[in-house]
Amino acid sequence: MSPDGSMRPPLISGTEPDGIRQAARILLEGGVVGIPTETVYGLAANALDPNAVAKVFALKGRPRFDPLIVHVPALASAVELASRFPVQARRLAERFWPGPLTLVVDKAPCIPDIVTAGLPRVGLRVPAHPVAQALLQEVRIPLAAPSANPFGKTSPTSAHHVWSDFQGRVPVVDGGLCAHGIESTVVLVPGDGAPPLLLRPGAVSLDALQDTVGTVLLADHEQALRPPSPGMLARHYATDTPLHLDPQELPGQRLGWLGLGLPESPERFAVIESLSPRGDLLEAASNLFGAMRRLDAAGLEAIWAESVPDSGIGRAINDRLRRASARTAPSP
Ligand code: TXA
Ligand code: MG
Repeated sequence: MSPDGSMRPPLISGTEPDGIRQAARILLEGGVVGIPTETVYGLAANALDPNAVAKVFALKGRPRFDPLIVHVPALASAVELASRFPVQARRLAERFWPGPLTLVVDKAPCIPDIVTAGLPRVGLRVPAHPVAQALLQEVRIPLAAPSANPFGKTSPTSAHHVWSDFQGRVPVVDGGLCAHGIESTVVLVPGDGAPPLLLRPGAVSLDALQDTVGTVLLADHEQALRPPSPGMLARHYATDTPLHLDPQELPGQRLGWLGLGLPESPERFAVIESLSPRGDLLEAASNLFGAMRRLDAAGLEAIWAESVPDSGIGRAINDRLRRASARTAPSP
Protein backbone atom coordinates (compact mmCIF):
# COMPACT_ATOMS: atom_id res chain seq x y z
CA MET A 1 0.00 0.00 0.00
CA SER A 2 1.14 3.55 -0.59
CA PRO A 3 1.58 5.98 2.33
CA ASP A 4 -1.93 7.45 1.85
CA GLY A 5 -3.39 4.01 2.56
CA SER A 6 -4.61 3.38 -1.00
CA MET A 7 -3.68 0.34 -3.08
CA ARG A 8 -2.12 2.67 -5.66
CA PRO A 9 1.40 1.39 -6.34
CA PRO A 10 4.13 3.82 -5.23
CA LEU A 11 5.83 3.66 -8.60
CA ILE A 12 9.03 5.55 -9.32
CA SER A 13 8.53 8.10 -12.08
CA GLY A 14 10.51 7.28 -15.21
CA THR A 15 10.11 10.77 -16.60
CA GLU A 16 11.53 12.74 -13.63
CA PRO A 17 15.33 12.98 -13.24
CA ASP A 18 14.74 12.36 -9.51
CA GLY A 19 13.08 9.04 -10.31
CA ILE A 20 15.98 7.93 -12.47
CA ARG A 21 18.46 8.95 -9.75
CA GLN A 22 16.46 7.11 -7.08
CA ALA A 23 16.36 3.90 -9.15
CA ALA A 24 20.07 4.21 -9.95
CA ARG A 25 20.87 4.55 -6.25
CA ILE A 26 18.99 1.36 -5.40
CA LEU A 27 20.80 -0.51 -8.19
CA LEU A 28 24.22 0.78 -7.14
CA GLU A 29 23.53 -0.35 -3.57
CA GLY A 30 22.92 -3.90 -4.81
CA GLY A 31 19.12 -3.73 -4.96
CA VAL A 32 16.62 -4.92 -7.55
CA VAL A 33 14.37 -2.57 -9.55
CA GLY A 34 11.60 -3.22 -12.06
CA ILE A 35 12.40 -1.25 -15.21
CA PRO A 36 10.56 -0.57 -18.45
CA THR A 37 11.96 -1.62 -21.81
CA GLU A 38 10.36 -1.44 -25.24
CA THR A 39 9.70 -5.22 -25.14
CA VAL A 40 8.54 -6.11 -21.61
CA TYR A 41 9.43 -4.88 -18.11
CA GLY A 42 12.66 -6.27 -16.65
CA LEU A 43 13.76 -7.09 -13.09
CA ALA A 44 17.13 -5.36 -13.05
CA ALA A 45 20.25 -5.69 -10.90
CA ASN A 46 23.95 -4.84 -11.22
CA ALA A 47 25.24 -7.51 -13.63
CA LEU A 48 28.74 -7.30 -12.14
CA ASP A 49 27.54 -8.02 -8.57
CA PRO A 50 26.76 -11.74 -8.02
CA ASN A 51 24.86 -11.00 -4.79
CA ALA A 52 22.58 -8.51 -6.50
CA VAL A 53 21.97 -10.96 -9.35
CA ALA A 54 21.18 -13.73 -6.85
CA LYS A 55 18.33 -11.55 -5.52
CA VAL A 56 16.78 -11.49 -8.99
CA PHE A 57 16.83 -15.30 -9.21
CA ALA A 58 15.31 -15.56 -5.73
CA LEU A 59 12.54 -13.00 -6.37
CA LYS A 60 11.56 -14.61 -9.67
CA GLY A 61 11.83 -18.17 -8.37
CA ARG A 62 13.99 -18.71 -11.43
CA PRO A 63 16.17 -21.82 -11.65
CA ARG A 64 19.87 -21.03 -11.63
CA PHE A 65 20.35 -22.84 -14.95
CA ASP A 66 18.51 -20.07 -16.80
CA PRO A 67 20.90 -17.25 -17.80
CA LEU A 68 20.00 -13.54 -17.68
CA ILE A 69 20.27 -10.95 -20.43
CA VAL A 70 22.70 -8.10 -19.72
CA HIS A 71 21.54 -4.64 -20.77
CA VAL A 72 23.98 -1.92 -21.81
CA PRO A 73 23.52 1.61 -23.20
CA ALA A 74 25.36 1.16 -26.51
CA LEU A 75 27.26 -1.21 -28.79
CA ALA A 76 30.64 -0.05 -27.41
CA SER A 77 29.69 -1.21 -23.90
CA ALA A 78 28.47 -4.54 -25.27
CA VAL A 79 31.79 -5.13 -27.00
CA GLU A 80 33.56 -4.66 -23.64
CA LEU A 81 31.50 -7.47 -22.10
CA ALA A 82 32.32 -9.97 -24.87
CA SER A 83 35.61 -11.80 -25.26
CA ARG A 84 35.00 -11.47 -28.99
CA PHE A 85 32.28 -9.79 -30.96
CA PRO A 86 31.97 -11.56 -34.33
CA VAL A 87 31.33 -9.58 -37.49
CA GLN A 88 27.81 -11.03 -37.81
CA ALA A 89 27.01 -9.84 -34.30
CA ARG A 90 28.30 -6.39 -35.20
CA ARG A 91 26.12 -6.26 -38.32
CA LEU A 92 23.04 -7.28 -36.36
CA ALA A 93 23.84 -4.81 -33.58
CA GLU A 94 24.36 -1.96 -36.03
CA ARG A 95 21.01 -2.63 -37.66
CA PHE A 96 18.82 -3.45 -34.66
CA TRP A 97 20.35 -1.69 -31.62
CA PRO A 98 19.04 0.05 -29.71
CA GLY A 99 16.11 -2.32 -29.98
CA PRO A 100 14.49 -5.69 -29.30
CA LEU A 101 17.41 -7.98 -30.17
CA THR A 102 19.61 -9.98 -27.78
CA LEU A 103 22.95 -11.26 -29.07
CA VAL A 104 24.50 -14.27 -27.35
CA VAL A 105 28.30 -14.11 -27.73
CA ASP A 106 31.41 -15.37 -25.89
CA LYS A 107 31.53 -13.59 -22.56
CA ALA A 108 34.31 -11.49 -21.06
CA PRO A 109 35.74 -12.72 -17.73
CA CYS A 110 34.17 -9.79 -15.82
CA ILE A 111 30.67 -11.31 -16.24
CA PRO A 112 29.95 -13.42 -13.13
CA ASP A 113 29.00 -17.06 -13.73
CA ILE A 114 25.65 -16.64 -12.02
CA VAL A 115 24.55 -14.27 -14.83
CA THR A 116 25.22 -16.79 -17.60
CA ALA A 117 24.27 -19.86 -15.51
CA GLY A 118 27.83 -21.07 -15.95
CA LEU A 119 27.63 -20.91 -19.77
CA PRO A 120 30.62 -19.51 -21.65
CA ARG A 121 28.38 -17.07 -23.53
CA VAL A 122 26.45 -13.99 -22.45
CA GLY A 123 23.24 -12.49 -23.85
CA LEU A 124 23.64 -8.76 -24.51
CA ARG A 125 21.02 -6.17 -25.42
CA VAL A 126 20.85 -2.40 -25.93
CA PRO A 127 17.27 -1.41 -25.10
CA ALA A 128 15.65 1.46 -26.97
CA HIS A 129 13.19 2.58 -24.27
CA PRO A 130 14.14 6.15 -23.26
CA VAL A 131 13.70 5.36 -19.54
CA ALA A 132 15.93 2.26 -19.77
CA GLN A 133 18.47 4.35 -21.66
CA ALA A 134 18.35 7.17 -19.10
CA LEU A 135 18.84 4.67 -16.28
CA LEU A 136 21.72 2.84 -17.97
CA GLN A 137 23.46 6.15 -18.58
CA GLU A 138 22.92 7.22 -14.98
CA VAL A 139 24.13 3.98 -13.33
CA ARG A 140 27.06 3.32 -15.69
CA ILE A 141 26.97 -0.39 -14.90
CA PRO A 142 25.52 -3.20 -17.04
CA LEU A 143 22.11 -4.37 -15.81
CA ALA A 144 21.17 -8.03 -15.76
CA ALA A 145 17.41 -8.21 -16.24
CA PRO A 146 15.06 -11.07 -16.98
CA SER A 147 11.41 -10.31 -17.70
CA ALA A 148 9.84 -9.07 -14.45
CA ASN A 149 7.40 -11.94 -13.82
CA PRO A 150 7.50 -14.97 -11.57
CA PHE A 151 9.29 -17.79 -13.42
CA GLY A 152 7.20 -19.48 -16.11
CA LYS A 153 4.37 -16.95 -15.89
CA THR A 154 3.03 -14.31 -18.27
CA SER A 155 5.45 -11.44 -18.91
CA PRO A 156 4.65 -7.88 -17.73
CA THR A 157 3.94 -5.05 -20.17
CA SER A 158 3.06 -2.35 -17.62
CA ALA A 159 4.52 -1.13 -14.33
CA HIS A 160 1.30 -2.20 -12.65
CA HIS A 161 1.80 -5.82 -13.82
CA VAL A 162 5.19 -5.88 -12.09
CA TRP A 163 3.85 -4.27 -8.99
CA SER A 164 1.06 -6.80 -8.62
CA ASP A 165 3.20 -9.84 -9.55
CA PHE A 166 5.63 -9.04 -6.73
CA GLN A 167 3.01 -7.58 -4.40
CA GLY A 168 4.90 -4.39 -3.89
CA ARG A 169 8.15 -6.08 -2.80
CA VAL A 170 10.09 -4.56 -5.71
CA PRO A 171 10.38 -0.85 -6.55
CA VAL A 172 9.21 -0.28 -10.12
CA VAL A 173 10.10 2.55 -12.49
CA ASP A 174 7.04 3.51 -14.51
CA GLY A 175 7.76 3.91 -18.21
CA GLY A 176 4.22 3.38 -19.48
CA LEU A 177 3.09 0.49 -21.64
CA CYS A 178 5.74 -1.46 -23.57
CA ALA A 179 5.64 -0.63 -27.28
CA HIS A 180 6.41 -4.15 -28.60
CA GLY A 181 4.86 -6.13 -25.76
CA ILE A 182 6.78 -9.29 -26.60
CA GLU A 183 10.33 -10.20 -25.60
CA SER A 184 13.46 -9.57 -27.63
CA THR A 185 14.58 -11.93 -30.35
CA VAL A 186 17.51 -13.98 -28.99
CA VAL A 187 20.24 -14.91 -31.49
CA LEU A 188 23.37 -16.89 -30.73
CA VAL A 189 26.32 -15.80 -32.85
CA PRO A 190 29.00 -18.50 -32.63
CA GLY A 191 31.54 -16.49 -34.63
CA ASP A 192 33.45 -19.52 -35.86
CA GLY A 193 32.01 -19.32 -39.37
CA ALA A 194 28.87 -21.21 -38.31
CA PRO A 195 25.59 -19.39 -39.04
CA PRO A 196 23.76 -17.57 -36.25
CA LEU A 197 21.08 -19.50 -34.43
CA LEU A 198 17.64 -18.16 -33.49
CA LEU A 199 17.14 -19.19 -29.84
CA ARG A 200 13.90 -17.28 -29.25
CA PRO A 201 11.64 -15.61 -31.84
CA GLY A 202 10.76 -12.08 -30.81
CA ALA A 203 10.07 -8.57 -31.93
CA VAL A 204 12.78 -8.68 -34.65
CA SER A 205 11.56 -11.13 -37.30
CA LEU A 206 13.54 -14.01 -38.79
CA ASP A 207 13.26 -12.36 -42.22
CA ALA A 208 14.80 -9.15 -40.91
CA LEU A 209 17.68 -11.14 -39.37
CA GLN A 210 18.31 -13.07 -42.59
CA ASP A 211 18.22 -9.84 -44.58
CA THR A 212 21.13 -8.64 -42.48
CA VAL A 213 23.38 -11.72 -42.10
CA GLY A 214 22.10 -14.36 -44.54
CA THR A 215 21.26 -17.81 -43.17
CA VAL A 216 19.99 -17.96 -39.59
CA LEU A 217 19.22 -21.45 -38.30
CA LEU A 218 16.25 -22.21 -36.10
CA ALA A 219 17.32 -23.57 -32.74
CA ASP A 220 14.86 -26.45 -33.00
CA HIS A 221 17.03 -27.73 -35.83
CA GLU A 222 20.12 -27.62 -33.69
CA GLN A 223 20.14 -30.61 -31.39
CA ALA A 224 23.80 -30.18 -30.57
CA LEU A 225 23.33 -27.31 -28.13
CA ARG A 226 21.68 -28.55 -24.96
CA PRO A 227 19.96 -26.64 -23.46
CA PRO A 228 20.64 -23.70 -25.77
CA SER A 229 18.19 -21.32 -24.13
CA PRO A 230 15.75 -21.95 -21.32
CA GLY A 231 13.30 -19.56 -23.05
CA MET A 232 12.79 -22.66 -25.21
CA LEU A 233 11.34 -24.55 -22.26
CA ALA A 234 8.14 -26.30 -23.30
CA ARG A 235 5.94 -24.61 -20.67
CA HIS A 236 6.57 -20.91 -20.17
CA TYR A 237 4.70 -17.59 -20.32
CA ALA A 238 1.79 -19.54 -18.82
CA THR A 239 -1.56 -18.40 -17.46
CA ASP A 240 -2.91 -20.19 -14.36
CA THR A 241 -6.14 -20.82 -16.29
CA PRO A 242 -5.60 -23.68 -18.77
CA LEU A 243 -4.98 -22.26 -22.23
CA HIS A 244 -5.70 -24.41 -25.30
CA LEU A 245 -4.76 -23.99 -28.92
CA ASP A 246 -6.95 -26.90 -29.98
CA PRO A 247 -10.68 -26.14 -29.59
CA GLN A 248 -11.36 -29.90 -29.34
CA GLU A 249 -9.77 -29.87 -25.90
CA LEU A 250 -12.06 -27.18 -24.48
CA PRO A 251 -14.35 -27.88 -21.54
CA GLY A 252 -17.94 -26.61 -21.78
CA GLN A 253 -18.16 -23.89 -19.14
CA ARG A 254 -17.08 -20.24 -18.93
CA LEU A 255 -14.63 -20.01 -21.76
CA GLY A 256 -12.42 -17.14 -22.80
CA TRP A 257 -11.24 -16.42 -26.33
CA LEU A 258 -7.99 -14.84 -27.48
CA GLY A 259 -6.99 -14.16 -31.07
CA LEU A 260 -6.84 -11.71 -33.96
CA GLY A 261 -10.14 -10.17 -35.02
CA LEU A 262 -13.14 -11.92 -33.47
CA PRO A 263 -14.15 -15.58 -32.88
CA GLU A 264 -16.49 -17.28 -35.33
CA SER A 265 -19.07 -18.07 -32.62
CA PRO A 266 -18.79 -15.25 -30.08
CA GLU A 267 -21.80 -16.57 -28.11
CA ARG A 268 -19.64 -19.50 -26.89
CA PHE A 269 -17.37 -17.20 -24.90
CA ALA A 270 -17.85 -15.42 -21.59
CA VAL A 271 -14.90 -13.14 -22.31
CA ILE A 272 -13.40 -12.20 -25.67
CA GLU A 273 -9.98 -10.59 -26.04
CA SER A 274 -9.26 -9.40 -29.56
CA LEU A 275 -5.52 -8.76 -29.91
CA SER A 276 -6.11 -6.55 -32.92
CA PRO A 277 -9.59 -6.02 -34.35
CA ARG A 278 -8.00 -4.91 -37.64
CA GLY A 279 -5.71 -7.95 -37.78
CA ASP A 280 -2.43 -6.07 -37.28
CA LEU A 281 0.25 -8.42 -35.89
CA LEU A 282 2.36 -5.64 -34.34
CA GLU A 283 -0.66 -4.38 -32.44
CA ALA A 284 -1.50 -7.97 -31.50
CA ALA A 285 1.96 -8.54 -30.00
CA SER A 286 1.71 -5.40 -27.91
CA ASN A 287 -1.64 -6.56 -26.50
CA LEU A 288 -0.78 -10.24 -26.00
CA PHE A 289 0.42 -10.46 -22.39
CA GLY A 290 -2.07 -7.87 -21.11
CA ALA A 291 -4.91 -9.83 -22.72
CA MET A 292 -3.61 -13.11 -21.27
CA ARG A 293 -3.49 -11.53 -17.82
CA ARG A 294 -7.04 -10.13 -18.08
CA LEU A 295 -8.37 -13.53 -19.17
CA ASP A 296 -6.48 -15.17 -16.32
CA ALA A 297 -8.18 -12.84 -13.82
CA ALA A 298 -11.69 -13.41 -15.22
CA GLY A 299 -12.49 -16.64 -13.35
CA LEU A 300 -12.67 -18.74 -16.52
CA GLU A 301 -12.50 -22.50 -16.79
CA ALA A 302 -10.34 -22.38 -19.89
CA ILE A 303 -9.02 -20.08 -22.59
CA TRP A 304 -9.04 -20.86 -26.30
CA ALA A 305 -6.16 -19.08 -28.01
CA GLU A 306 -6.38 -19.07 -31.79
CA SER A 307 -2.97 -19.00 -33.48
CA VAL A 308 -2.14 -16.02 -35.68
CA PRO A 309 -0.45 -16.05 -39.12
CA ASP A 310 3.12 -17.30 -38.68
CA SER A 311 4.77 -14.36 -40.46
CA GLY A 312 6.90 -11.53 -39.04
CA ILE A 313 6.22 -11.04 -35.32
CA GLY A 314 3.38 -13.60 -35.67
CA ARG A 315 6.02 -16.32 -35.22
CA ALA A 316 6.87 -14.92 -31.77
CA ILE A 317 3.19 -14.62 -30.80
CA ASN A 318 2.55 -18.25 -31.78
CA ASP A 319 5.69 -19.35 -29.93
CA ARG A 320 4.43 -17.71 -26.71
CA LEU A 321 0.93 -19.20 -27.15
CA ARG A 322 2.37 -22.68 -27.74
CA ARG A 323 4.49 -22.53 -24.60
CA ALA A 324 1.64 -21.06 -22.55
CA SER A 325 -0.54 -24.00 -23.64
CA ALA A 326 2.04 -26.74 -22.98
CA ARG A 327 1.11 -29.11 -20.19
CA THR A 328 4.62 -29.98 -19.00
CA ALA A 329 5.84 -27.74 -16.21
CA PRO A 330 9.39 -26.37 -16.48
CA SER A 331 11.83 -28.68 -14.70
CA PRO A 332 13.56 -26.87 -11.81
O1 TXA B 1 12.96 -8.46 -24.15
C1 TXA B 1 13.65 -9.12 -23.37
O2 TXA B 1 14.53 -9.90 -23.75
C2 TXA B 1 13.37 -8.92 -21.87
C3 TXA B 1 13.77 -7.49 -21.49
C4 TXA B 1 13.64 -7.24 -20.01
O3 TXA B 1 15.05 -7.23 -21.94
N1 TXA B 1 14.10 -9.88 -21.10
C5 TXA B 1 13.79 -11.19 -21.11
O4 TXA B 1 14.57 -11.94 -20.26
O5 TXA B 1 12.89 -11.67 -21.78
P1 TXA B 1 14.22 -13.45 -19.86
O6 TXA B 1 15.21 -13.77 -18.83
O7 TXA B 1 12.80 -13.54 -19.51
O8 TXA B 1 14.53 -14.24 -21.16
C6 TXA B 1 15.87 -14.29 -21.62
C7 TXA B 1 16.05 -15.41 -22.59
C8 TXA B 1 15.89 -16.75 -21.89
O9 TXA B 1 15.28 -17.63 -22.81
C9 TXA B 1 17.34 -17.13 -21.64
O10 TXA B 1 17.50 -18.51 -21.53
C10 TXA B 1 18.02 -16.56 -22.87
O11 TXA B 1 17.36 -15.35 -23.11
N2 TXA B 1 19.44 -16.29 -22.61
C11 TXA B 1 19.97 -15.34 -21.84
N3 TXA B 1 21.31 -15.45 -21.78
C12 TXA B 1 21.63 -16.53 -22.53
C13 TXA B 1 22.86 -17.21 -22.83
N4 TXA B 1 24.01 -16.80 -22.32
N5 TXA B 1 22.80 -18.30 -23.63
C14 TXA B 1 21.62 -18.74 -24.13
N6 TXA B 1 20.43 -18.16 -23.86
C15 TXA B 1 20.44 -17.07 -23.08
MG1 MG C 1 10.96 -14.31 -19.35
